[in-house]
Amino acid sequence: MIVAPAAERNKEPILNVIRQQLSPGAPALALELASGSGQHSVHFAQALPNVLWQPSELEPRALESISAYIAATRVENVKQPLNIDCSQSWETWGGLKPSSFDLIVNINMIHITEIKCTEVRVLFICVNSFCSIYVIPKEQS
Ligand SMILES: C[S@@+](CC[C@H](N)C(=O)[O-])C[C@H]1O[C@@H](n2cnc3c(N)ncnc32)[C@H](O)[C@@H]1O
Repeated sequence: MIVAPAAERNKEPILNVIRQQLSPGAPALALELASGSGQHSVHFAQALPNVLWQPSELEPRALESISAYIAATRVENVKQPLNIDCSQSWETWGGLKPSSFDLIVNINMIHITEIKCTEVRVLFICVNSFCSIYVIPKEQS
C-alpha cells in the first residue's frame, strides 16, 4: 500500500469541504478522479457511509494500492477502482454514464497534468492552488 504523507495530512480538511457539497444522510454516488494511494477514498467513505465512493486512477501501482486499502479497511462503500485517464474524453471512462454521479472529486492532480485533463464542464471550487474539488451537479453534467 502506498502511504502518502500529504494525503494523511489533508484528508480531514478536504472531507470537511466535501461534506458541504452533500445533503447530510442522503444517499449519493461520488466519483474520485486520480485517487492516488487510496487513503482519501477509504477515509471519505468511512466518514460518509451514505456515499458510495468510486475511486479511479491511471497508474497500475496506485490502482493496486487503492484495492489494498479497500481490503485492509474492509470499508463496504468503496467500489473497486476504475482505470481512468483524465486526458481522454469522458466517454472512455470505464463506461460511466452521463449524469450518473452526484459528486466528482479531484485532488492534487491538475498541477501535474496537461491542460486537457481539466477541460471539462465543471463548477470549480478551489481549496488552494494545489488542491481542487470539482462538483458537477447532475443537471449540468
Ligand atoms: C499528486 S498525486 C495525487 C493523488 C491523490 N489525489 C492525493 O491527493 O493524494 C496525482 C495523481 O494523479 C494521477 N494522474 C496523473 N495523470 C493522470 C491522468 N491523466 N488521469 C488520471 N490520473 C492521473 C497520478 O497517477 C497520481 O496518482
